[in-house]
Amino acid sequence: MKKIRKAVLPVAGLGTRVLPATKSVPKEMLPVFDRPAIQYVVNEAFDGGIEHIVFVTGRNKSAIDDHFDRAYELESSLLEKEKSDILHQLESERPIAGSMSFVRQQSPLGLGHAVWCARDVIGNEPFAVLLPDVLVKAKPSCIAQMIGTYNKRGGNIIAVEPIPRENVNMYGIIEPKERDGAVIKMAGMIEKPAVQDAPSNLSITGRYILQPEIFDLLNNQTRGAGGEIQLTDAMATLMRNQDFFALEYEGESFDCGSKQGYLRAFLQYALDHEQEGDAAHATLRRVLANNTV
Ligand code: G1P
Repeated sequence: MKKIRKAVLPVAGLGTRVLPATKSVPKEMLPVFDRPAIQYVVNEAFDGGIEHIVFVTGRNKSAIDDHFDRAYELESSLLEKEKSDILHQLESERPIAGSMSFVRQQSPLGLGHAVWCARDVIGNEPFAVLLPDVLVKAKPSCIAQMIGTYNKRGGNIIAVEPIPRENVNMYGIIEPKERDGAVIKMAGMIEKPAVQDAPSNLSITGRYILQPEIFDLLNNQTRGAGGEIQLTDAMATLMRNQDFFALEYEGESFDCGSKQGYLRAFLQYALDHEQEGDAAHATLRRVLANNTV
């Protein structure tokens, strides 16, 4: 079985659901307490054993490349001021040179098209996809849980979670067939179904392990929900020919593509912060006490 070495992170999206914050700042760079959202997703990938990240990027996203580069002026000034803690932290989260690639999507044709844009860099091996809009708090991380399942079963794997029925039209939804603990065999999947047509309330979380044959399918994929080339549609086809499992992972997801999801993530990551968590609790309690009706 081939090891999962590479991950695709699609970052070309415009972030329209969190405007005006994202007018000139990429949504992936919005801070979730003391780090940009993208940093958590990159950490999840590298901590899970991924060796190379392929960003599928677009115009006005160069702040992402810069964030993962050295910041010479900043670093030398921190060194001069003997701020070694923060300097050490920056260094510990900087990827090793050569472990990131950037490809351009050029036109916003959908998630399926974004993943297809990474085909040459991925080549003929299975790979992960992590959607940076979605932060997942889990131990082990969501992608690590999925790689654990992949190492036992092979094939293709998506992370899923139960959501309120009224929200199914915002996500990819699976049609479960058979369950073995947290691992679910599927009869199908559908992108953003109407509430009355949804085959379940299990949504696709934004973490995938896919075999490279997905690229041939994406190459010929017609437009689906929202007029976009959907990854879900290509996966639904791939499922007919290859093993495909959904994993109901253990953990909690935060959809930072929406204002309330972003707020929830910001607060939760602040409250859970190793050094700042207690102070964040006190701050939040004070804010709430001043705002009770
Ligand atoms: C994408 C996927 C969808 C998935 C969702 C998770 O949708 O197409 O299947 O459930 O991410 O956040 P998007 O949010 O890009 O519309």
